[in-house]
Amino acid sequence: MTEKNFYITTPIYYPSGKLHIGSAYTTIACDVQARYKRLMGYDVYYLTGLDEHGQKIEAKAAEAGLAPQSYVDGMAEGVEKLWDLLDISHDVFYRTTNPEHEKAVQRIFDKLLAQDDIYLGEYSGWYSVSDEEFFTESQLTEVFRDENGKVTGGIAPSGHEVEWVSEESYFFRMGKYADRLLAFYKENPDFITPNSRMNEMIKNFIEPGLEDLAVSRTSFTWGIKVPNNPKHVVYVWLDALFNYMTALGLENDLENRLDKFWPADIHMVGKDILRFHSIYWPIFLMALDLPLPKRLVAHGWYVMQDGKMSKSKGNVVYPEMLVERYGLDPLRYYLMRSLPVGSDGTFTPEDYVGRINYELANDLGNLLNRTVAMINKYFDGKVPSLSAGQTDFDADLEATATQVISDYHKYMDLVDYPRALEAVWSLIARTNKYIDETAPWVLAKDADQKGNLGSVMAHLAESLRVVAHLIAPFMMETATGIVSQLGLGDVEAMENLTFGQFPEGVTVVAKGTPIFPRLDMDEEIAYIKDQMAAGKPATEKEWVPEEVELVLNKPEIKFEDFDQIEIRVAEVIDCQKVEGSDKLLQFRLDAGDAEHRQILSGIANFYPNPEALIGLKVQIVANLKPRKMMKKYVSQGMILSAEHDGNLTLLTVDPSVPNGSVIG
Ligand code: ME8
Ligand code: MG
Repeated sequence: MTEKNFYITTPIYYPSGKLHIGSAYTTIACDVQARYKRLMGYDVYYLTGLDEHGQKIEAKAAEAGLAPQSYVDGMAEGVEKLWDLLDISHDVFYRTTNPEHEKAVQRIFDKLLAQDDIYLGEYSGWYSVSDEEFFTESQLTEVFRDENGKVTGGIAPSGHEVEWVSEESYFFRMGKYADRLLAFYKENPDFITPNSRMNEMIKNFIEPGLEDLAVSRTSFTWGIKVPNNPKHVVYVWLDALFNYMTALGLENDLENRLDKFWPADIHMVGKDILRFHSIYWPIFLMALDLPLPKRLVAHGWYVMQDGKMSKSKGNVVYPEMLVERYGLDPLRYYLMRSLPVGSDGTFTPEDYVGRINYELANDLGNLLNRTVAMINKYFDGKVPSLSAGQTDFDADLEATATQVISDYHKYMDLVDYPRALEAVWSLIARTNKYIDETAPWVLAKDADQKGNLGSVMAHLAESLRVVAHLIAPFMMETATGIVSQLGLGDVEAMENLTFGQFPEGVTVVAKGTPIFPRLDMDEEIAYIKDQMAAGKPATEKEWVPEEVELVLNKPEIKFEDFDQIEIRVAEVIDCQKVEGSDKLLQFRLDAGDAEHRQILSGIANFYPNPEALIGLKVQIVANLKPRKMMKKYVSQGMILSAEHDGNLTLLTVDPSVPNGSVIG
């Protein structure tokens, strides 16, 4: 008999902020698979944890005024609480500040150095602290240049800013292993789910040539020290990836876990970190002669209608709020059902509330309510025994259930949860239709139909029993709720789940209770939107303006050109009409010069009472070359005014600003 062991991991998250529904998604997705495999009779080990080293954490700790260790300790508590709230069934919550892990990483670094996979060199490149990743200039989605065209910075594909980093660094000889990695891919075409991503990795990263990877940093200290050269800390990815093995006991396999669970069956990752898991991780393991993981499952992102989640946009959704208001199971259901495999999905409050109302409360909740109510009404709560295939409707329902169970297992193994759930909901829909077709309320009126009516009730109860088992990995509480309303003990192992196993002599609850609330759509959509907006920080500290298309009247100029213009505050000392001109006003101004200056301005049409302007403070271009006007007046500058709808309005300045103040 082959052992049925199953090891699944989430990425270990950076504890650099409160986790949003994105990380909750991956963690629930792994939880669903872990629960599924347990119900299928596997011995499961489910790891999640935190990636606690690196520059970003160091900076966040400093911002919070804490030592990095206290900072991550505090964050870890919060994350564990969240996993509790989401009923995550992990077997270990692993943190990279664990001393066993640190020891292992140092040993590994030493070994790789000794065998010349790692060497000491010099690094310079564009570094994104947020991603803990280097980029080449061509990888940047945007570059900033100074006036000479020299690149001064840029934006990484993640949207984070990069900085130029130049330092002594250790390097790992990645290129050395490229061919072995390609051969491994070839032998294991299902290594990456979805398959299409393997080609993406080959085309984008391996074929252009794998560059040596900088695996140490000297510009900060919060990390695992390089043995014998402690001014270096180990690059956070070399550190973090090994958690998958150190957590099992790579240093000290006291519990025989490494032996039992390595290689991992599934590393679940977001598409943002697939490269590290599909290229660096296998290569590190090859260099150490360790077995490679069996499978990487990469999923897309949850995004918002207005793009990536960001606090400054006020579009971040935190799982706590949704659980508090609507309960846990709707959140788990929604997240697993609505993110299509391999691509991004959009979270919308409309979709969230809609799925709860239609799919959970209506389709599933109603089916249970009606079934329990009818069994009580027609059979005093006793579930009649099931005899298969009495009518065409029966046969069709049975066939649907059998097909759905088989599709479900197929999709669960593919980690295609939307399709697995779609299959279950097709059985729910078929069962609801079965009620309409068989019309039990009509059968109930005819004593001769008692047998038929009993068969219908038995089919309904059995269908719900099957549904409860299939949704158990997703919605434990709902599954338990359904089986207990049906009068059964608990959800049981699923290995042999088939239609037609409903036990004899079972009594349903006397009065069923709705398993999902019915929501007021408008009210709840507004509620979720409010909560999202409430997360928007009061200070716009994190606001990064996006580049928008500008509508200009004049060609763009350089800052240096603008800086040539001296604009100053000037007080109007005197103002009168210019004789012989109906456009010009003659101003005497105190602009902070040794003497008053004179400026002629063509705004007479808009200011019929020139004296009224005396005492106002206006803005003037002070270094405009003086020019002669109307043959005898020298104008020493220009008064700024705004043009709108053919009118001109002087740009005045608050009287408290001293004359001569430079504007810029
Ligand atoms: O990358 N939608 O940690 P991290 C879906 N420490 N999933 C999302 C998401 C979104 N909008 N946002 C985040 C790291 N995720 C490293 C991992 S592993 C050895 C080290 C999920 O905190 C997704 O799984 O940035 C993504 O890969 C992960 O969070 C990144 O978490
Ligand atoms: Mg990230």
